Amino acid sequence: MAEVRRAAVLLSGQGSNLQALLDAAADPGFGVEVVLVASDRPDAGGLDRARRAGVPTAVVRLADHPDRPAFDRALQAAVAAARPDVVCLAGFMRILGPGFVRAFPDRIVNTHPGLLPAFPGAHAVRDALAYGVRVTGCTVHLVDEQVDHGPVLFQSAVTVEPDDDEATLHERIKREEHRLLPAAVRLVAHGRVLLDGRHARILPEPVRPGLATPEGVP
Ligand code: GRF
Repeated sequence: MAEVRRAAVLLSGQGSNLQALLDAAADPGFGVEVVLVASDRPDAGGLDRARRAGVPTAVVRLADHPDRPAFDRALQAAVAAARPDVVCLAGFMRILGPGFVRAFPDRIVNTHPGLLPAFPGAHAVRDALAYGVRVTGCTVHLVDEQVDHGPVLFQSAVTVEPDDDEATLHERIKREEHRLLPAAVRLVAHGRVLLDGRHARILPEPVRPGLATPEGVP
């Protein structure tokens, strides 16, 4: 992946998923730079992580706008100004309006702490525990105009232990998210996801021009 692509991240919370992406992006071979971290919450811990990493930040608060569409437009403008190749929702706790989703078609990646289509919504870990499932996990998917719904990129299963509470289970799920989210962001940023309806096919890494193909690699 010769060229470095641009990622904008939206978050509302502590930003451990942002940190995983920043850590991955610290390797120049990763091929993605985080160019903006935007939040709907001025107190989001993820904004501090961005500042520490020298990444520009933006705060767009719902309360500062007359209605949801105005908020969506302001958020869209802030993100578009960063010219991202991929938009990453890393614990962004607001539903994006259809205008925002259409502005970045098949280029918005979300991570959800549940095995979709089970337990969509804002309390996936709590809901899975309450249901009594033995296995849950996380889903990294493309965003469409329905909540927690777009084509699945990656999923990982996490076993529920008998003594788990919401915090301990969520912590183990996040470890999986930290692995999968950067990988998905990289693939989308480099145009390596081909969609056939709900099915996402991952295209192989392109051979860099000028580099000899290593033996045994087709
Ligand atoms: C993640 O589990 C994400 O799936 C959910 O919120 C959590 C955000 O965690 N939507 P963090 O802020 O990245 O630590």
